[in-house]
Amino acid sequence: MSEFRVKAITKLHAEFSVPGDKSMSHRAAILGGLSNGTCTIRNFLPSEDCVNTLNAMQALGARHEVLDELSGYGPIHLCIHGQSMKLRAPAAPIDCGNSGTGMRLLAGLLAGQTFSSELFGDASLSSRPMGRITVPLGEMGATIETRGENPGCAPLLIHAAKLSPIIYDMPVASAQVKSAVLLAGLFAEGKTTVIQPAETRDHTERMLASFRVSTRREGNAISIYGGQMPESCDFTVPGDISSAAFWLVAAAALPGSRLLIKDVGLNPTRTAILKVLSRMGAHMTEILHNSTGEPIGNIEIHGAPLTGTTILIEEVPNLIDEIPVIAVAAALAQGRTVIRNAKELRVKETDRISTVVDNLRAMGADIEEFDDGMEIIGGNPLHGVEIDSFGDHRIAMAFAIAGLFAEGETVIKNTQCVNTSYPGFAHHLDAIRHHRSQASDFELPTISLA
Ligand code: S3P
Repeated sequence: MSEFRVKAITKLHAEFSVPGDKSMSHRAAILGGLSNGTCTIRNFLPSEDCVNTLNAMQALGARHEVLDELSGYGPIHLCIHGQSMKLRAPAAPIDCGNSGTGMRLLAGLLAGQTFSSELFGDASLSSRPMGRITVPLGEMGATIETRGENPGCAPLLIHAAKLSPIIYDMPVASAQVKSAVLLAGLFAEGKTTVIQPAETRDHTERMLASFRVSTRREGNAISIYGGQMPESCDFTVPGDISSAAFWLVAAAALPGSRLLIKDVGLNPTRTAILKVLSRMGAHMTEILHNSTGEPIGNIEIHGAPLTGTTILIEEVPNLIDEIPVIAVAAALAQGRTVIRNAKELRVKETDRISTVVDNLRAMGADIEEFDDGMEIIGGNPLHGVEIDSFGDHRIAMAFAIAGLFAEGETVIKNTQCVNTSYPGFAHHLDAIRHHRSQASDFELPTISLA
């Protein structure tokens, strides 16, 4: 079983980029595979989650060719041959691994096909709620059996169905649910509308626009007309701000540090982490290079003594994946940080309220657990202990960052899971721990031309 061993750092001066965005990579694989021609996708995230979605599209008839890869992980640059909306029945059940995004988006895609299919995942994914997609897809006419041991959970058996459009008022602010319904809407005759209770990441809408599929936004309602043909296009995936978040917190919490993260996605539905760290006292500059399609740019951050903050209710969906590492920042800050209205954390890869609270408490933090979040009184010195990731990539990485500030050695067990979203994290951690600073020190060593 792999582990990270981490000790405190005294300085952090670095410039580098992080691997491609996970949310966008899933969507690029799906829309590229549906499109009417060949698409080149650059800076695809070669993580287990996204490679599973790419393989799912291959099983549905959309072949891909690898142009450049991170060997041992998966493609970085690739061509995908779109099937002009005509997918074929997969020969076997489709493995979604650990990925809720992969499974929920693919379920939306598969709900209105002329063939049946089955989606399954690992133990974590098989315990996550799928009713949130089977309910709206069922209203559209889909027949999806949840065959898991836990009620309403995967494996999903999706029968062939003809879909009708609906207006769906989502009870939870979830980009995965919104995207599943919009993808299903592409295969329904007429106008499908999803109303979100709060703003969620809008990568599906933006990527549909890149593929010349129009959606319409009125307030918090997003509509799509079925029958549109995605036009093939080339797409470059920006770096993943959720992966950058680990290093942003490390730099923010270390006075005197300077970190430049290059070519990272700056979509406003994902950048609440920057506002939160600024509020806590970090000095930050964002330089936008490109604002058409998906905004991309550099983030420069300088550390400072941090103070606690309250996460606003409307910020929660925007930084849901960053909360574990924000909790680490809160433990390192002076004063109280309040993270509430975040019950969704309980149904991520692990119950991230309890995994964060238990691990931070074990390191010496003053932290209280609530049904919908946590409160942290920062400033207690953290001490190195043995931490379990519980197989959750973001828990493993958040506690590697905590270890950079703890007295003694922090050992994080069960770290193989970081490959689901950040292949190369261990290499970047090593470069930071040994005070290496240049982009070349952070280059993932095994990228090779195929
Ligand atoms: C994602 C949406 C978020 C996020 C997940 C990726 C996406 O989930 O937690 O890592 O790509 O749509 P919800 O929107 O279901 O909260």
